[in-house]
Amino acid sequence: MSLIEVSNVSAGYGGTPILNGVNLAIESTDIGVIVGPNGAGKSTTLKAIFGLLRVSEGAVLLNGRDITNAEADKLVPMGLSFVPQEFNVFTSMTVEENLEMGAFVRRDDFSDTLASVYEMFPPLKEKRRQKAGELSGGQRQMVAMGRALMSQPKLLLLDEPSAGLSPRYMLEIFEQVIKINKSGVGILMVEQNARQALEFASKGFVLAGGKNRFTGSGRELLDDPEVAQSFLGG
Ligand SMILES: Nc1ncnc2c1ncn2[C@@H]1O[C@H](COP(=O)(O)OP(=O)(O)OP(=O)(O)O)[C@@H](O)[C@H]1O
Ligand SMILES: [Mg+2]
Repeated sequence: MSLIEVSNVSAGYGGTPILNGVNLAIESTDIGVIVGPNGAGKSTTLKAIFGLLRVSEGAVLLNGRDITNAEADKLVPMGLSFVPQEFNVFTSMTVEENLEMGAFVRRDDFSDTLASVYEMFPPLKEKRRQKAGELSGGQRQMVAMGRALMSQPKLLLLDEPSAGLSPRYMLEIFEQVIKINKSGVGILMVEQNARQALEFASKGFVLAGGKNRFTGSGRELLDDPEVAQSFLGG
C-alpha cells in the first residue's frame, strides 16, 4: 500500500479533460518528481490530488483510503499539504502569521514545529515580524514551504518550488526538500529544473498531454536518451 496512489485519473476544469488516465504512486521514503512541457497537466495533477478540481475517472488513495474528490480542508488533517505554484503566501501578513496559518488544523501546541521550521530556514526567524510580501522570492518560497510543514504532513506536494530562484536558492530549496524527506515526509513535486531535480528523485514521472509518458527512477529517466532528447533539452 502506497502513501499516495493516483490510479487512472482523468480530471479537468469543466471542459474537455486535461488529465487522461494519470498513474503514479509514492511511498513515504520517496521524492517523486513530475516533469514535462508547459501545459502537460503537472499542476493539474497536484490539484487533483489535493481536491481542488473534479476527478471524473479513476481514484486517489492515501494510505489505501479513497480520497477522490475529498476537499482540501479534510485532506490537511489526514496528512496532506500543498504548496501551489503561485500566490502561495499571504503577502500582507507577517512571516510568523503565515506559518501560524499553516497550523490552523492543529489543536495541540505547535511551538516545536515552528521552532523546527525556523531551524530549517534561519532567514525566516530573523524576519518573522516582517510582512511576507517584503521578502525575496527565495525567502517567500521558504515561507510557503514552512507554512505547509506546520500541519505536520505525511505527504508534501510542491509545485515548482525553485521557479524563478537563483541557482544558489534552488540548491538550498532542494537541500531542504531532501532533509524534509529524510525526516519521514513523502514528497511529490513538479519541477522545471528537471535535470537537477531528477538527480535526487527516487521516482520520476514524465507527463505530456495529460498522460504518463515515462516512469522510472530519476536516474533511469536521466539516462533514457528519448527522455533526455524530448523532455530534458537533449
Ligand atoms: N483554472 C483553469 N481553468 C481552465 N483550464 C486550465 C486551468 N488551469 C490550467 N488549465 C489548462 O490545463 C492544461 C494543463 O495545465 P497545467 O497548469 O496543469 O500545466 P503544467 O504542466 O503545470 O504547465 P506549466 O509548466 O506551464 O506550469 C493547460 O492547457 C491549461 O491551459
Ligand atoms: Mg504548472
